[in-house]
Amino acid sequence: MSVEGKKRVITTQRLLEMKQKGEKIAMLTAYDYSTARILDEAGIDIILVGDSAANVMAGHETTLPITLDQMIYHAQSVVRAVHNPMVVVDMPFGTYQGDTRQAVSSAIRIMKESEADALKVEGGSEVIESVNKILSTGIPVMGHLGLTPQSIHKFGTYSVRAKEDEEANKLIEDAIALENAGCFALVLEKIPAALGEKVASVLKIPIIGIGAGSGVDGQVLVMHDMLGLNNEFSPRFLRRYHNLHDEILNAFTNYIKDVKSSDFPNEGEQY
Ligand code: KIV
Repeated sequence: MSVEGKKRVITTQRLLEMKQKGEKIAMLTAYDYSTARILDEAGIDIILVGDSAANVMAGHETTLPITLDQMIYHAQSVVRAVHNPMVVVDMPFGTYQGDTRQAVSSAIRIMKESEADALKVEGGSEVIESVNKILSTGIPVMGHLGLTPQSIHKFGTYSVRAKEDEEANKLIEDAIALENAGCFALVLEKIPAALGEKVASVLKIPIIGIGAGSGVDGQVLVMHDMLGLNNEFSPRFLRRYHNLHDEILNAFTNYIKDVKSSDFPNEGEQY
């Protein structure tokens, strides 16, 4: 539900319809009110309140440190801003793996306190029991396979996943298991394009890719990356739509210069 209590336009049913009609799904991350408002105005289909907030908002190396309270704070800020897009919230590391009761109570807390529309969890067979329990409460769940950043210490690197048959076959099995469990969509991160296309053709639910090629049903990027806020992060899958780092640096530098030279404020900028 939106701020005004109206039902949002993009629902799980609408996303399924989009896949069936071949309409691509556009998803971006947001973590705050102001950018979520602009994303809504631009016509985005899904806003992901990603645990990438740990990286781009808080400066952590990995997504692991972000807490449930912090994710709820970001989700509340986004939900307050939007009318049309579906708002999906990442369940943070340590709040759903291995303990189904904790998974359900974490999921219910996010949904109750943020009024978001759905949750996202990382992993396949390892988390299927938690996924089943969360789904049994009526909360829509989006899966996430391939490169799953919450498992970075297991993988050891952020390189492309599932290049070998064994890992690719497990990914396909996991994707089918998540669909059969009742997930409404899946994110596939950093895998070969041919595998992304195969999963999208086998599954009925929408597949949203990030570094998974063009044969999937939609795309997601981290907003800070596509806006060029951080010029040091340049994976091959990233398309930059702006160079906000340089624009903001320029604005800050000019402001400092104007204050130091007493150019700001001028006569028209005071009472
Ligand atoms: O946390 C996040 O932003 C994500 C996207 C990269 C899909 O999970």
